[in-house]
Amino acid sequence: MRSTSTSPTEIASEEEQNYDKISDLKAFDETKAGVKGLVDAGITKVPWIFFSPEDEFDKVSDPGKNELYVPVVDLDGVEKDTILRKNIVDIVQDASETWGFFQVINHGIPDTVLEEMLDGVRRFYEQDTEVKKEWYTRDGSKTVVYNSNFDLYRAGSANWRDTTYCNMAPNPPSPDELPKSCRDILVEYSRKVRELGRFLFELLSEALNLNPSHLIDMDCAKGLAILYHYYPACPEPELTLGASKHADYDFLTVLLQDHIGGLQVLHQNQWVDIPPVPGDLVVNIGDLLQLISNDKFKSSQHRVLANNVGPRVSVASFFTTGLMPSSKIYGHIKELLSQDNPPKYKETTVTEYSLHYNAKGLGGTSALLDFRL
Ligand code: OGA
Ligand code: NI
Repeated sequence: MRSTSTSPTEIASEEEQNYDKISDLKAFDETKAGVKGLVDAGITKVPWIFFSPEDEFDKVSDPGKNELYVPVVDLDGVEKDTILRKNIVDIVQDASETWGFFQVINHGIPDTVLEEMLDGVRRFYEQDTEVKKEWYTRDGSKTVVYNSNFDLYRAGSANWRDTTYCNMAPNPPSPDELPKSCRDILVEYSRKVRELGRFLFELLSEALNLNPSHLIDMDCAKGLAILYHYYPACPEPELTLGASKHADYDFLTVLLQDHIGGLQVLHQNQWVDIPPVPGDLVVNIGDLLQLISNDKFKSSQHRVLANNVGPRVSVASFFTTGLMPSSKIYGHIKELLSQDNPPKYKETTVTEYSLHYNAKGLGGTSALLDFRL
């Protein structure tokens, strides 16, 4: 228990604790081998820098009891049948307003591409550590950024996860700048997920009663960052999290997860599992889409539980230009305002918002709250 008293000895001990924490974080960071490196070394206890505060485990899900399921959107036939398309748009609208999440099936990306992408992620993390270390960096201007916990030195506690970040659009890297272990599939998957993303932005525009090209014309589909994650098996999953509670900082995320599970969304104050369904993709609204839709669509908080079983791998496709310098101003879409629906957020740029989010890190209060008028 942390004391609330301010006696000099206790202040000193807190400073000492901070010092220990920073040196432990540094020692971990300098291995450049991530959480996978700890597990490979045979660790049987979770190091304290990964301990999640107890309140992060508060509202543990109760599968089956409340019968809450994330909405499923079946895109089969959507291009051919206008009545069907209207039905699908209605489901997308309801899901985006209430859950901020939906699962898409029959999305047009072949299962073989999804499987090969997950295999590519495993190949990247499971390659020779010495080769992999060459990609390890905290320099966000690099084409490929592999590290463990982007917010390692800022977050309250570290997550049981390693991540690699690649900016794939609008300025795609040349293939030889990408890791050999997953280069070809990364290029192919990005192209396919970009197409799907553009289509989803059309449906989302229609769900906002706007022209189908509205969100694309606003450049919401311009940038694509692929983040591929590796969650090693955890010896004490009750002490840490794979990913702390957070909402995404982009316009839209398309997530591919393997068969392990652990992803949960906070819905009506309960953590609801988003179970893996082979061949499906999970779609969620990001903070920037909540901002421009003036709260019509919700960017929901979600997290990933740690697991005894693993590794779990996933690929998050973030529609955003992220930290890339940009001057385009984003604020509420004027068509969505009415007398009883005044603007709720300050205007911002994608760069400004991403920098703010990055500086806060995961696990705290929502970055979007800081932009409320
Ligand atoms: C993310 C995220 C979930 C997962 O990358 O923002 O929430 O299942 N990922 O990896
Ligand atoms: Ni997320």
